[in-house]
Amino acid sequence: MSDLSDKPVLVTCGLPYANGKAHVGHLRTYVPADIYVRALKKVGRKAIFVCGSDTHGTPIVVNAEQLGITPGELVEEYHAHFKNLFKRLEINFDAFGTTDDKENHDRTKQIVNRLIEKDYVYPKIIEIAYCPRCNRFLPDRYVEGTCPHCGEAARGDECDQGCGKHLEPGELSNPVCTLCGGPAEYRKQEHFFFKLSEFSDYLKTYLSKELGGTANARNYALGWVKQGLSDWCITRNLEWGVKFPGHEALVVYVWVDAPIGYIAFTEEWAAKTGQSWEKFWKGEGEIVHFIGGDIAYHHCIFWPAMLKGADYSSPKAIVASGMVKIDDKTFSKSRGYVVWAEEDYLDQGFHPDLLRYYLASYTSHTKELNFSWRVLQEKINTELVAGLGNFLYRSMLFAFKNYGKIPTGKIEPEIKEEIKKAIKGVKAAMEDYEFKKGVDMAMALASYGNSYFQAHEPWKLIKEDKEACGQVLYNCLQLGKALALLFEPVTPGSMEEAWKGLGLQGSVHEAEYKEALVPLKSETPMAKPKILFTKLENEKIEEMEAIFTQRIKEAVEKRDAKKGNKKQVKEVTKSEGKLSKERTKTQAEKNTDEKLEENLEEGLSQIDYEDFAKLDIRVGKILVAEKIKKSRKLLRLEVDIGEPEPRQIVAGMAPYYEPEEMLGKQIIVLANLKPVKLCGVKSNGMMLAAEDGALTAALMPDKDLGPGSKIR
Ligand code: 2FM
Ligand code: ZN
Repeated sequence: MSDLSDKPVLVTCGLPYANGKAHVGHLRTYVPADIYVRALKKVGRKAIFVCGSDTHGTPIVVNAEQLGITPGELVEEYHAHFKNLFKRLEINFDAFGTTDDKENHDRTKQIVNRLIEKDYVYPKIIEIAYCPRCNRFLPDRYVEGTCPHCGEAARGDECDQGCGKHLEPGELSNPVCTLCGGPAEYRKQEHFFFKLSEFSDYLKTYLSKELGGTANARNYALGWVKQGLSDWCITRNLEWGVKFPGHEALVVYVWVDAPIGYIAFTEEWAAKTGQSWEKFWKGEGEIVHFIGGDIAYHHCIFWPAMLKGADYSSPKAIVASGMVKIDDKTFSKSRGYVVWAEEDYLDQGFHPDLLRYYLASYTSHTKELNFSWRVLQEKINTELVAGLGNFLYRSMLFAFKNYGKIPTGKIEPEIKEEIKKAIKGVKAAMEDYEFKKGVDMAMALASYGNSYFQAHEPWKLIKEDKEACGQVLYNCLQLGKALALLFEPVTPGSMEEAWKGLGLQGSVHEAEYKEALVPLKSETPMAKPKILFTKLENEKIEEMEAIFTQRIKEAVEKRDAKKGNKKQVKEVTKSEGKLSKERTKTQAEKNTDEKLEENLEEGLSQIDYEDFAKLDIRVGKILVAEKIKKSRKLLRLEVDIGEPEPRQIVAGMAPYYEPEEMLGKQIIVLANLKPVKLCGVKSNGMMLAAEDGALTAALMPDKDLGPGSKIR
């Protein structure tokens, strides 16, 4: 494909942490990567697809500690969960290992030793957060504090609530132990650093001239490289992980051994199949990484530098997906904005193809994707059911009922052209990682098919001229074959059904795009076709929405209860004088992923409905609008808000609206705001407006409502 030559391709996906269940957000990377691999095979490319569980690092150790189990037990459970889930979603990895596999321990040690040999690693005494009460060093998420760059609350290895920068051990100010909540101190200890700074020039060239994939990933990384890279601390004080060679008390930082997993899993695949892993990592094969946009730094900076330093091949392309929102809200387990891949989707009886289709076709791969049950319903019913499914089913059913076999015919030139055009478009889109575009192109062929069927009215033609009707049907079925091939990467299960329905041999999974123009064999018997996609009914969607709403409600209640508890705890601890700072106590309570997340999303505090109900917000109609002489900003308005007398409201709208254009307009008014005087003019209420940088717009209802209508 465009970033690639015709060499074999190794495709990988960012490794899921074996630390929690899979949700729709995870799938944003895995589904498109699987589509890409299938599309590579459809153009005749040799492609291998590997992934595995990320099993090391402090979050896993912390969670296991909290659950009273070993990290090994924790990761075993979630590894099995992910493996099973991917199988159910037809995300077909050729190998799915874990970073705790022997292959990965061995490969990591080999790479680290190689870097040591080549003098890219050096020891340095640094200050490491240490908790005197817990009597232990505090790596990464065991410590929280203040970001030295932006002053926001941050965790040990990342300023997750502020500037987003990767933080090195010892950088955090005001360190607090997340285990006991007590203040941490810095103690000197020897750690090992990778000379990342020596790779600056290499990375500049690599990122700007050599690396393919999506621009979001490489541009982001290039920005950091241009600002100057510091050396990177690659060891941690943990027992769980890959031991740093020669130092049993240290393990390598998880971001060292996790990407090395890509190599280890290729080795696992090679051992299983008797093929060579070196052809990708040392030879001419090409490597494409699919990742979430949030881990671009690690993949575009740390990883290529490590590979270069240890004499391995560099990735040819890095493809980074945009983030996922749930019902237009930032994904959050603690707030209930989460859709679990198994319990909310597969276990509810939804077909994997529907979600695959949604994820591929919602928006461009690098853009933000919103998941909502309503949009899923809308897309499935109007696109897959009424578009693709309708065309395939009606063509096959008509042919089956009236002929029982593929009718006699040949592919007419117009049909051939349409198929060729669609294949060309889909191929080009896939090459550019534009999965939505690819799906749209394929769907355009289904629309063409529906129009063709409709225009030729086979239900009439069959009565007049069965042979001519057979030719029309033949064209439709040939279009159906092309559609089965074009949609196979996206909806593989359903397209296999279609393939069988057309009486075709073998599996659509193995067939290439070029077969779309191989004529169907007339007279081949057809089986009774199956309905490929069924409508998502309102009832089911409402059921799912109810589950979702309930989850959010429970999350709010849980958080409120927690807040109440925290308040009480704070009072007690303050009065007992046990902990000096409130911050210390709250930090101690926030030592899980979920809690970190809460912080991240905490903007304005939440209010109860009762708080909202105190606001008297109404629709008003502007009767008078004029400039206030002494002011450049203010307009004096008289607004009918359903009361006997119009209200006088002063609004800062003069820079954005001429008084004339406001006359007669409906606006939204906060009616029970205490009156104030602005430029000597009394304002009895507030007109609501929204601001986006320099842009300010009055809120106006899009239907004509009676003045005084309540906003609720
Ligand atoms: O961010 C994450 O979810 C990591 N587990 C991804 C690791 S990808 C690679 F480096 F292995
Ligand atoms: Zn910061």
